[in-house]
Amino acid sequence: MKKEVRRAIIAGNWKMNMTPSAAKEAIGKTAELTKDMNGCDVILCVPFVDIPAAVEAAKGTNVKIGAQNVHFEKKGAFTGEIAGDMLVECGIEYVIIGHSERRQYFGETDKTVNLRTKAALEAGLKVILCLGEVLEEREAGITSEIVSMQTKLDLAGLSAEDMKNVIIAYEPVWAIGTGLTATPEQAEEVCAIIRNVIAGLYSEEVAEGVTIQYGGSMNEGNAAALLSKVNIDGGLIGGASLVPEKFVQIVEAAQA
Ligand code: 13P
Repeated sequence: MKKEVRRAIIAGNWKMNMTPSAAKEAIGKTAELTKDMNGCDVILCVPFVDIPAAVEAAKGTNVKIGAQNVHFEKKGAFTGEIAGDMLVECGIEYVIIGHSERRQYFGETDKTVNLRTKAALEAGLKVILCLGEVLEEREAGITSEIVSMQTKLDLAGLSAEDMKNVIIAYEPVWAIGTGLTATPEQAEEVCAIIRNVIAGLYSEEVAEGVTIQYGGSMNEGNAAALLSKVNIDGGLIGGASLVPEKFVQIVEAAQA
């Protein structure tokens, strides 16, 4: 079971990069270069203010646009936050939730990740839910326990039906933006653990259907080896997604 049941998804996370005009140019270039690559889904998750320009630039192309966060309430006094229906009305289909930078710098916890995930699904968005261990946890030999716990807490209360709209991104924190990539074997091992936890929470069928991406210094040089693994169904790419020529090579590696 693998690519026959799960279509690969290559997503870029632009983080806090690109103005609207730069976004328009980069999406135009990415769309042009990927126009004949129909073997995987291609998503670019852009800063909120880039969304209108990004959605416009992606119209009629293979590229889908995502956001990088969403609030768990529908509306109200939450200065600086964005609600699910705002994203949907702007043409957004996907949203990243629980990125380690949100957890590390902005106080995001498994509880808020779970609340945001529920709100996003209720608004009709598809969620790219990020989790992964920090270096100390890997060195302490507790990676399996940490990612299992995150998977359970972050998915708490979600139905099997909800899981059709959830993508998991396994992002070991020590590999993000460091140039240190998990080896294909390390990444595969943890993605398999996550899939196994999902099987326990729901069923084998649900687990086999869930897309699990790897993220953390994925680039045009290491993508093919990572994507060849049975439990790695795609990538969530930071730095390399900012350069269309590099990002497109990762999309190409996912065509198999
Ligand atoms: P890098 O690809 O820059 O390591 O970032 C990965 C990431 O955080 C994607 O969400």
